[in-house]
Amino acid sequence: MTTGAAYDEIADWYEDAFLAAQGDADPIGVGAALDALLGPGDGVCLEVGCGTGAHADRVRALGWTPVGVDLSAGMLRRSAGRLTAARADAARLPVRDASVDAVIAVMVHTDMPAYPAVLREVARVLRPGGVFVHVGVHPCFCGGFADATDRAALIIRPGYLDVHWTKDSYTDQGIRDKVGAAHWPLPALLHAFLDAGLDLERFAEGGGPTPMTLAVRARA
Ligand SMILES: C[S@@+](CC[C@H](N)C(=O)[O-])C[C@H]1O[C@@H](n2cnc3c(N)ncnc32)[C@H](O)[C@@H]1O
Repeated sequence: MTTGAAYDEIADWYEDAFLAAQGDADPIGVGAALDALLGPGDGVCLEVGCGTGAHADRVRALGWTPVGVDLSAGMLRRSAGRLTAARADAARLPVRDASVDAVIAVMVHTDMPAYPAVLREVARVLRPGGVFVHVGVHPCFCGGFADATDRAALIIRPGYLDVHWTKDSYTDQGIRDKVGAAHWPLPALLHAFLDAGLDLERFAEGGGPTPMTLAVRARA
């Protein structure tokens, strides 16, 4: 199962409606997590699943040189002018071993049923000591089992405990009812980092009153 083609269908909506609605706000703490966990640097930073390149300016402002890969030609079309990017599967990166200073994966793990393989590729392409920052939907509070109609009174239904793929969503205004989402419970997600040989280093949560994102910094 892959979501690359599904994103071709929604690339213009993603850029012109979904991202545009957020403007410069950072409602679920994605920008704050990149600032805090990636931080300043001056090498190449590869974004796996870069989409329309929404984070390229922030990565560049931190001093890194942003490059990206994405499966969706439609999303990459909208990334033009923001970063150098290629069409490729994050689970089979066209990148040499130990050649990249930093990798980020932002709001993509739920789009990648092969995320454990993606993490192994991240570990392969990072130079020793290189930094990896994952920012994804919070596995405990987001997913087909979570009804966030009222953010102040989140409803968690059965389903969290199983690794699964679903298009279930409490809203038809988001991404997941359109392209679907993979889910791993928190221990399975964190074990995938460890199994890839990545060393976990720092964590952050973003959004409120219940966190909507979980961010992880790890090193090769
Ligand atoms: C929710 S979007 C996030 C895009 C961007 N990171 C952002 O935060 O705006 C998920 C992206 O992952 C890409 N994607 C899904 N599976 C992929 C894979 N196996 N390899 C590379 N990109 C993939 C999709 O095409 C889509 O652009």
